[in-house]
Amino acid sequence: MGEKHAVRLEPVGIEFEVDEDETVLNGAFRQGLMLMHGCKEGQCGACKSFLLDGEVDLDRYSTFALPDYELDEGWTLLCRAHAVTDLEVELINYDEEILRSGVELRTARARVEAIEPLTRDIRRLVLSIVEGEMPFKSGQYVDIGIPGTDDYRSFSMANLPSDDGRLEFMIKLYPGGVFSSLLADGALQVGDELDVTGPYGVFTLRDTERPILFIGGGAGMAPILSLLRSMAERGISRPAVYYYGAREEQDLFHLEELNGLQTMLPGFRFVAALSDSEWEGETGLITDVVERSEQGLDGVDAYLCGPPPMVDAAQEMLMRLGVDEARIHYDKFTTTANTEE
Ligand SMILES: Cc1cc2nc3c(=O)[nH]c(=O)nc-3n(C[C@H](O)[C@H](O)[C@H](O)COP(=O)(O)OP(=O)(O)OC[C@H]3O[C@@H](n4cnc5c(N)ncnc54)[C@H](O)[C@@H]3O)c2cc1C
Ligand code: FES
Repeated sequence: MGEKHAVRLEPVGIEFEVDEDETVLNGAFRQGLMLMHGCKEGQCGACKSFLLDGEVDLDRYSTFALPDYELDEGWTLLCRAHAVTDLEVELINYDEEILRSGVELRTARARVEAIEPLTRDIRRLVLSIVEGEMPFKSGQYVDIGIPGTDDYRSFSMANLPSDDGRLEFMIKLYPGGVFSSLLADGALQVGDELDVTGPYGVFTLRDTERPILFIGGGAGMAPILSLLRSMAERGISRPAVYYYGAREEQDLFHLEELNGLQTMLPGFRFVAALSDSEWEGETGLITDVVERSEQGLDGVDAYLCGPPPMVDAAQEMLMRLGVDEARIHYDKFTTTANTEE
C-alpha cells in the first residue's frame, strides 16, 4: 500500500481517497463511484478529465487518447493517473445518475456452458457463475481473466441482468489473439472455469424520453442487444432504430431475434447494411447509411459500439449533424495490442 491522497471531483463536489498504488479510476470504482471510462488502459480517451490542482504520475497510454498538447494544457487520463499529491479534478464528461449508480466491483468464478459459432469469425460464449455473483446492468462489461496469466480481456454482456447467474458474450476471433484463439482452437472447453471481474462500463440506457439511435458493427452487437432485450423486457417503447454494419451477408447473425424485436417494440426498426457486397438491403459504410437515411437527428440519444474507427467516424458524423456530444454514448472495443507511449 502506498501513500493516500484526497481527490475532489468538480463540479459535483464528491471527495474520495486514493492510494498512490492504484489509479484514480480504480480508487473511484473501489468506492462505488462509476466515473466515465471505456478501455481502462489509456487508449480510448473516455476517462479524460482536467487536472485543476495537484500532480499525477501516468502509466503507459496512447497519444491518440491523450495527445501531448492536451497533457501540457492540464488534461489527464484517470485510468492511467496515480495521485502523487491531493487532487482537484474537473470531470468533463459525466452523468450524475451514472456516477452515483456504481455497483461494487467483484471477482467471480464462472464455468463455460457453451462456445458456438455465430458467424465465420464471431463466437457466442456463455458462462455461468459458480462462485460469487456478478450483478450487472444491460450495456455493461466484465474483464475475463486469461487462464494461467494475470492478463484479462474485456467483453460486453449480450444477455439480460435478470438471466440469473449467466453471462453471454459475442467474441470476435483475431488471428493470434491471445484470448479469442482459446475459443478458435478449442483450448477453452465447456466445463472449464474462468475468473470474471466487474461489472464495468457506462454504456447503459439513460432514462429519457428521447428517440434512440443505435449504431454498431461486428461483435459490438453485444451490449446493444442487451439494451434492446432490456427495453423489450421492461416494455420501453421509445422510438428506436438500430443500424448494424457487417461486411457480407454471411457476417449477419441474430436476424430472427432482431426482426422479432421490431414486433415486440412498436417504435423499433432494425437496419442492416453490408460494406463489401451487394444484396437487397442497404449497402455502404454504416455511417454513410445513417447519414443518407436519417433526418433531424439533433433530438436523439445515440449509442455507438464496435471497433474504434467505426465509433470515431459515427461520433464525428453525429456531431456534424447537430447531436449534442453529451447525448452520444459509446463503447469502443479497443484492444490491448496497440498501446504506445
Ligand atoms: C470496454 C470493452 C468492451 C469490449 N467488448 C468486447 C466484446 O463484447 N466482444 C469482443 O469481441 N471484443 C470486445 N472487446 C475487445 C476485447 O477486449 C479484446 O481486446 C479483443 O477480443 C482482442 O483480444 P485477443 O486476446 O483475442 O487479441 P490480442 O491478443 O489482444 O490481439 C492479438 C492480435 O490481434 C490484433 N487485433 C486485436 N484486435 C484487433 C482489432 N480490433 N482490429 C485489428 N486487429 C486486432 C492485434 O493487433 C494483435 O496483433 C472489448 C474491449 C473493451 C475495451
Ligand atoms: S478509460 Fe481511460 S483511456 Fe480509455
